[in-house]
Amino acid sequence: MEIFLQCSSEAFTSLSSQIRCLSAQWSKSQEQSWTSQNFSDQLVERVFGYHPMENEHKFLQTASTKHLMGDGLVVMTQAMMYNLQNLMLHSVGSGNGKVWQESGLFAYCYNIVFRAGYLSLFGNESPKGTGKESVEKAKEIDLQHSNDLFCEFRKYDQLFPNLAYGVLGPRGKMEAERLKRLFWSTLSVQKMRVKDNISGWISDQQQVRAELDMQEFMQDRFMFLLLWASQGNTGPSAFWLLLYLMKHPEAMSAVRKEVEEILKEAGQEVKPGGPLIDLSRDMLLKTPILDSAVEETLRLTTVPLLTRGVVQDMTIIMANGQEYKIREGDRVSVFPYLVHIDPEVHPDPLTFKYDRFLNADGSRKTDFYKDGKKLKYYSMPWGAGTTMCPGRFFATNELKQFVFLMLSYFDFELTNPNEQIPDIDIRRWGFGSMHPDRDIQFRYRPRI
Ligand code: HEM
Repeated sequence: MEIFLQCSSEAFTSLSSQIRCLSAQWSKSQEQSWTSQNFSDQLVERVFGYHPMENEHKFLQTASTKHLMGDGLVVMTQAMMYNLQNLMLHSVGSGNGKVWQESGLFAYCYNIVFRAGYLSLFGNESPKGTGKESVEKAKEIDLQHSNDLFCEFRKYDQLFPNLAYGVLGPRGKMEAERLKRLFWSTLSVQKMRVKDNISGWISDQQQVRAELDMQEFMQDRFMFLLLWASQGNTGPSAFWLLLYLMKHPEAMSAVRKEVEEILKEAGQEVKPGGPLIDLSRDMLLKTPILDSAVEETLRLTTVPLLTRGVVQDMTIIMANGQEYKIREGDRVSVFPYLVHIDPEVHPDPLTFKYDRFLNADGSRKTDFYKDGKKLKYYSMPWGAGTTMCPGRFFATNELKQFVFLMLSYFDFELTNPNEQIPDIDIRRWGFGSMHPDRDIQFRYRPRI
């Protein structure tokens, strides 16, 4: 039996305590889970070719807590800064002066954020020597290789919804198979051995699997799963964030003011021939306005479907008193987007309000109500419970760094400022960050 719930905060609290996430179930009874009709196992198998192991979830959480949160984020922020600037400044080339360049906004944002995120997590090409030339050559290889990978990733991205639903046609299946093999090979343990700057998040997870004698080809497949989880959402979210800012001048000017003040406070300035911006983790903690704009963007454009396997018979009691008896083996799906666009919780819910998550005193707003009751879960772009996105702090940082650098280095505007914001492509409903149903052109040029 499958139940879909409109998520209310009470229902979700009771769900979280009594229903284990599917990945936790994997570890509970490995053999049973592997051979059972476990939805999530089948999905991971079909989409990534990976067989989950015992304690899978625990290892993921340990590595994520260590490297994608708290102090681990200092290192990741630096890596992301280095790669983002390399890619963004390279894309305007040298000697072009202040010439406008035109591009699809979705294509641009997804490309840059994917490649910078990928290089920061999976590492850079190792220079063949110590000279400047070798370093530049290694950078060139990174640029080319990450772009090639992005192009292939987008092909898989487009097949993904039908692949996950198991309804790909024969041609699509062949193409998905080709792409899977390409990713396994590109991200293979063997190729990773010769890279520099591999993040602790990746190397720890590789090491634990090697120590547990997981076969190398299976480790390669796991790397593809990590690539997917880490790079499929942030690029599309960066697109929506930049687009909303461009379509809402008051939001853009508030964010710009905040960014300029933070740079000034840190004694940094973009000037011709000057040093690159050095945006630290601490600086990124002082941006309440940008934080609210990010939260608002995710509220409007992140549409996950959270599916849980029921591990014991239970009754779910909804906020309105309605009861559902569900059995061990059933599946329950929660669709939090309905809360995201509930007008009682978020008035005028389809409008982007950059300060929706700000109190009058500039602090973060967390008080949202339904039927007079304060909600715990008023926005859930990252999911909830044990499988809540472990990359959420890193992802938020990536989005903020990207906006910071766009505002600092470039003038940019929509080619047609009156063009409407595209609709979301509903074929991806349930798969996290939404894509637009068409791209929208913009232009950009160096400010200095
Ligand atoms: C805007 C960007 C992102 C969004 C909206 C997002 C959203 C989500 C959602 C909704 C889930 C499922 C949660 C659940 O089932 O309860 C998830 C899982 C996950 N995310 Fe993210 N994510 C983003 C970026 C990232 C990044 C940058 C990383 C890693 C660097 C990451 C790593 C993961 C992993 C490993 C899981 C699986 C967690 C598990 O099964 O325990 N995500 N994410």
